[in-house]
Order: sequence, then C-alpha cells, then structure tokens
Amino acid sequence: MHKLIIGNWKMALGYKESVTLAENLVLSQPYRPLLAEVGVCPSFVALSSVANILEGTAIFWGAQDATQFVPGPVTGGTSLESLVELDCRYVILGHSERRQLFGETDELVRLKLQAVLERTNLIPIVCVGETLAEREAGQAEEKVGGQLRAIFNSVVVPAGREVVLAYEPIWAIGTGKTSTPTQAEAMHHFIRQFLKELGIEGNRILYGGSVKPENAGQLLSQPNIDGLLVGGASLSADSFWSIVFA
Ligand code: 13P
Repeated sequence: MHKLIIGNWKMALGYKESVTLAENLVLSQPYRPLLAEVGVCPSFVALSSVANILEGTAIFWGAQDATQFVPGPVTGGTSLESLVELDCRYVILGHSERRQLFGETDELVRLKLQAVLERTNLIPIVCVGETLAEREAGQAEEKVGGQLRAIFNSVVVPAGREVVLAYEPIWAIGTGKTSTPTQAEAMHHFIRQFLKELGIEGNRILYGGSVKPENAGQLLSQPNIDGLLVGGASLSADSFWSIVFA
C-alpha cells in the first residue's frame, strides 16, 4: 500500500489563501514519480474551490470534519453527503483540536465513523493521541487503547473498506516537539496490534505532530508508519512537497 501524506490546513488559511496554496501545489509539483498518495484537507469554505483546482491532478482532497446527521435542519452543520458531492476522498474524524475546542468525545467520533462507513465511500482518518501528562505518567498506550476501544465499539468495518488511523500525540501538535521516530513507531505498532485484536486489519497508520521536511524521512522509514498528517508544514507548497518527497 502507498504511503499517505495528508496536509491538514486547519483554520490557518482564509478562502483566498487556500485557493492560492492549491494553485501553488499544482504549479510546483516536482517532476518526479509520485510514490505516495497525497491529499489536502482545506476548510469547508474553501473545499469546493480547492476541489475544482485539484481535479485531474495527482492530489486528492478531503474535509477536516463532518456531522453524523443526515441532511436536514442542522444549523451550522456539514453533511457527509455534501462531502461526497464534492468528490472528497477523506474525512478527518476526532482531531484533538475538535476534542479540546469543541468538546468532541470518543462516542461522538464513533457515531461519525459509523455514519461515514454506512452512508459514504469516504476514507475516514480517525485521530487518537495522548497528552503530555498522560505520556509522562506512562499512560500513553492506555489512553490510545481506550480511545480505539471506544471509537470502534460495535462499529462494523465492511470488507474492503479502509479506515485510516492517525496517531497525533497532543504534546507534539504545533509545538515543534516531534515524537522521536522510535517513540512513534512503538505507538504505531501498538495501535496495529490493538486494532488486530478488534478484528480490524490493513489500516494505514499516519503520524502527526510537528512533521517537517527535516524529520519526515526518518518517520516514514519506520515499518509501522504508513504516512503523515501534516499541519503547519503543509501550508507552503515547497515545504509540503519536500515532505512528500522526503
Ligand atoms: P502540526 O504539524 O502543525 O504540528 O499539526 C499536526 C496536526 O494536528 C495535523 O493534523
């Protein structure tokens, strides 16, 4: 399976900046064989325009979140169906910023995952990760295992459907502190084994948290790191392509 490199633009860019970045990505794609699968997740307001720019290129696109509700009276919501209409390939679920800033729980992430699998062909990218306090207390695996157990509880992953996991230690997001490749590899191995015990196999497991061109190659060379979820360093075309070709 190809490595998967996703740029999560978060809310860092306005509409016009997002369009410019999408155009720059297309214009500056290196003339080298692209061995990884590459995608970007712009904000909702920019998604349609970015999709138009990326259509027919090697870059896929997706959303940073969605509601589990079917289209209807849900003020401020974004339905999975509308993401399908925009030919999104991915939807990120349960990012730690959604959990911290919007109070999303494992149970809500579970409902969203179930909705994605039942109603769409989108590839869900399910985020998990521990806080610094949990890591320092030696509870990182317990936290991540608990999240996986709760999110996948009674969720049926149909044969042939891929659920991508993203391990994003909260202490490494936007802080410049990256998990060492060895630390990340150990957690990825744990996640893979844990999912196997839940009967879920064949997942790509991405690492996220202060990924930069300088550390991407080493992270990607770990056997259980199947790709990267990149925040800040995906906001410039040059730096994103350097990571893809790391
Ligand atoms: P940074 O790469 O900015 O640390 O963000 C990581 C992240 O949260 C990607 O989803």
